[in-house]
Amino acid sequence: MIDRGSLIVFEGCDRSGKTTQCNKLITQLEADGHKAKYLKFPDRTTKIGQLINSYLGQSCDLDDHAIHLLYSANRWEAIHTMKSLINQGTTLIVDRYAYSGVAYTAAKEGFTLDWCKQPDIGLPQPDKVFYLTLSSEALSRRGGFGDERYEKKDIQDKVAQNFQKLKDGDWEEIDADKSVEDLHRELYSRVKQVMEDSKKKALGKLWT
Ligand code: TMP
Ligand code: MG
Repeated sequence: MIDRGSLIVFEGCDRSGKTTQCNKLITQLEADGHKAKYLKFPDRTTKIGQLINSYLGQSCDLDDHAIHLLYSANRWEAIHTMKSLINQGTTLIVDRYAYSGVAYTAAKEGFTLDWCKQPDIGLPQPDKVFYLTLSSEALSRRGGFGDERYEKKDIQDKVAQNFQKLKDGDWEEIDADKSVEDLHRELYSRVKQVMEDSKKKALGKLWT
């Protein structure tokens, strides 16, 4: 039997450097002969993803519950592909996952973490979540947010508080306030360790 790939998730606020780091990891893993694939949520290429994209670009409005469920559906529609890649030995480097789903919706008025978690219960459980953090001073040094919904300081502060509440034993918090190359080197060695540790373990189910 071939060793399975790992499910490795990157979380953090907008502009924390997740996408840059995920792409660098893929390039390096492939160069070193590993099978690796980048996935990102929301996946804006599917029909559900296109709806999410319009919502984020403020060209349509949706009820807060409805958009929450669409984000979750956008993950569920990917799980057959995800599981089969992992079982064939491909490591998935995932840019945001259900934790973003919970942290962002629960930053809105009237939502509990518990309610927000429900639709994602049972998704494949990450082998590791790397949570990239930046102080608000470091964030502001990176330049302003864009025009998308949620790219505002007060929302990002609440999101960061929610991430802290979601942290469990599979999380590693990484200070992202360093050069792209230094952060990459640190993450690459951690990722290789996770791949080694998880290859003989069964993939778990999230929040069960
Ligand atoms: P992105 O900037 O990583 O493409 O994500 C788009 C926005 O969507 C970002 O502000 C975080 C938010 N988001 C949610 O609100 N719920 C989710 O489930 C996910 C994956 C992202
Ligand atoms: Mg963004």
